[in-house]
Amino acid sequence: MLGRVNHVAIAVPDLAAATTAYRDTLGATVSAPQALPEHGVTVVFVELPNTKIELLQPLGTDSPIAAFLEKSPSGGMHHICYEVGDIFVARDQLIRGGARVLGNGQPKIGAHGKPVLFLHPKDFFGTLIELEQV
Ligand code: CO
Repeated sequence: MLGRVNHVAIAVPDLAAATTAYRDTLGATVSAPQALPEHGVTVVFVELPNTKIELLQPLGTDSPIAAFLEKSPSGGMHHICYEVGDIFVARDQLIRGGARVLGNGQPKIGAHGKPVLFLHPKDFFGTLIELEQV
């Protein structure tokens, strides 16, 4: 079911500071900030040769990463995103296997304009998983 790692996401309290650290200290190529109100985040993508890092800062009042940053104020790894060929086939197979899909179970359009779903971290060893159809 799983393809490549599309990205690893890191929640950060200060997106500008995180962008500067990745661009200037680590010498990486970073994107411009992109506001995703439907997901409650502003994202910056760090482009790497084999994958991407997604830097996430809360956007709006009920951001899904606000509680995460309350527990980890300096930031931390938030989720890992795997690519799948067909998100509906993957979703149905996961549900049959007992995994919980977050939200209403319908894919949303993610930061790359492709459908995404999130899986409950308690079903996958404490790690929030995002699936992205490519
Ligand atoms: Co993501």
